[in-house]
Amino acid sequence: MHESILILYGSQTGCAEDVALRIGREARRRHFQPEIMALDDLPKTRLGESTLAIFVCSTTGQGEEPDNMKSFWRWLLRKSLPENTLANLEFTVFGLGDSSYAKFNFPARKLYRRAVQLGGRCFYPCGEGDDQHYLGVDGMLDPWLQGLWEALLSKYPLPSDCPIVPDSVQPEASFRVELLGSVPKDQRVASDPRYPANVVYTDLIKNERITSSDHFQDVRHIVLRRSPQTSSPLVFQPGDTAQLFPRNIPTEVEEFLSQMNWIEVADQPLVVHPNLAGIQLPPYLPNPTTLRTLFECYFDIYSVPRRSFFEMLSYFTDNPLETEKLREFCSAEGQDDLYAYSHRVRRTIVEVLRDFKSHHIPLDYLFDIFPDIRPRAFSIASSLHAHPDEIHLTVGIVEYHTKLSTKRRGVCTKWLKALDPTTHSITLPLTLKRGTMRLPVSPEIPVIMVGPGTGVAPMRSFIQERVYQGAKKNVLFFGCRYANKDFYYQDEWQALQTKGYLEYFAACSRDQAQKMYVQHLIREQTEYLWDLIHHHQAVILISGNANRMPEDVKSAFTDIVRQKGNMPEADAQKYIRQLEKSNRYVEECWY
Ligand code: 2AM
Repeated sequence: MHESILILYGSQTGCAEDVALRIGREARRRHFQPEIMALDDLPKTRLGESTLAIFVCSTTGQGEEPDNMKSFWRWLLRKSLPENTLANLEFTVFGLGDSSYAKFNFPARKLYRRAVQLGGRCFYPCGEGDDQHYLGVDGMLDPWLQGLWEALLSKYPLPSDCPIVPDSVQPEASFRVELLGSVPKDQRVASDPRYPANVVYTDLIKNERITSSDHFQDVRHIVLRRSPQTSSPLVFQPGDTAQLFPRNIPTEVEEFLSQMNWIEVADQPLVVHPNLAGIQLPPYLPNPTTLRTLFECYFDIYSVPRRSFFEMLSYFTDNPLETEKLREFCSAEGQDDLYAYSHRVRRTIVEVLRDFKSHHIPLDYLFDIFPDIRPRAFSIASSLHAHPDEIHLTVGIVEYHTKLSTKRRGVCTKWLKALDPTTHSITLPLTLKRGTMRLPVSPEIPVIMVGPGTGVAPMRSFIQERVYQGAKKNVLFFGCRYANKDFYYQDEWQALQTKGYLEYFAACSRDQAQKMYVQHLIREQTEYLWDLIHHHQAVILISGNANRMPEDVKSAFTDIVRQKGNMPEADAQKYIRQLEKSNRYVEECWY
């Protein structure tokens, strides 16, 4: 065996982890010994003792580092760390980000700078994957990896009797999956999935559609209440998020297990053992478990597959034409085809497996082939002072059409939509996470909220909290399509306005010939908003769909500052940037 390499990832949705695993597979083909783990799982002293590391690091929120590298990052930033902490380390970084955000690849860039400061030597230029690339991350990753291996192999040449293992050779499985003997139906026990230590259990109280039945989108008002099995009260601040753990729908899993010819063994106990050095068992995996539990709670079979899925599947198809097609999808020349087949039409893993019928996936490779279901974060739409021990959510059910004949449906919201608390009791585990938007400490300071669509969710929690505080200067800009179809919470806003707690402005974009958006209403209030911002230190909070809205809203506020402050454009922009720095202009937007 050759040099060992630490491959360390900070990953929020699994993309960076997937890249790290791919680098690991390619490293093994070149006889390196990869050790792959999340940055927070690395014992801190290890980095100083290591000689070779590849960091793969994604960007979340507004340029922040992923959760599973936060404690590592705090450690690395410590002022007390000697300047030669990483003097033995040669490293490089691959970042994953989205260039439509201002803080593109910030965590990766910061990590690079800090590692150099601590004496690390960058042996190969850092790479930056970009979601905006039409091939996604792979568009940048492919050429970067090619150069990486050239750099590494010229530093650590392979002995002549030790050639690179070609891509056509099946890699070893990361795990060994052992099916135990069959168990009679009446003796089967459910193997419940595990959750992180900070999980709280809630009961689903309400799951109500709040858009009219003829509206194109189904938006739900969801009410969760702490379950008796969680003994301490719920703790969160307005602006925080709840992360739910979605599942696949049991009837669909049943169908899938039949499609895969696994139905016979679906309920047999199954044990997962690590098989490769340097690979850890997935956290929160119930072990022993069953195939049914794995596919209901653990594997994301309704997502659009990453390229690594096609690569792994190509080792397990019997029909040479199918194998060839899968290989092509993974080659540089096949990228346009892959995009057209998979990404553009949002074809799911289940559908791909129906197309490539000759597959026979060995159970040992389950974890190498199927991605895991990630928790999904939703802004909390209620305040504990208004609704003790409750969490309200405002959730847009994701459904749309592509060229494919069946509707595309979001994994998490499809599951949520099907939960009906009026027919049986439903307990939902979740974790609570700090958001980026915060209310000003003083109730005297005005708050200007911009939340079109489901972006209004966190605003509802802020407004409820401000009412509790007795704070009266609350201004809300809401946007919807039609006053009588998707103007959710209108009654609440109206009642609060009557009581003097809220001024709200609603842009119903399609109720008139000309499109009307929140930014138009913001501009109409130039005089008033300038007074709140400039003379009363108002805090501005913005949330919603990130397509164009945040930019359009920012230019409306910049215009207000330019006009009323009598400033050139550049100074007005600087004024807004200053507000951002002092947390008086905060966006929390999503795609
Ligand atoms: P539209 O669908 O009629 O274009 C909530 O989704 C509301 O936000 C809808 O009324 C939607 O209008 C509107 N919206 C779409 N693009 C926007 C943008 N760039 N800025 C502000 N609002 C926008």
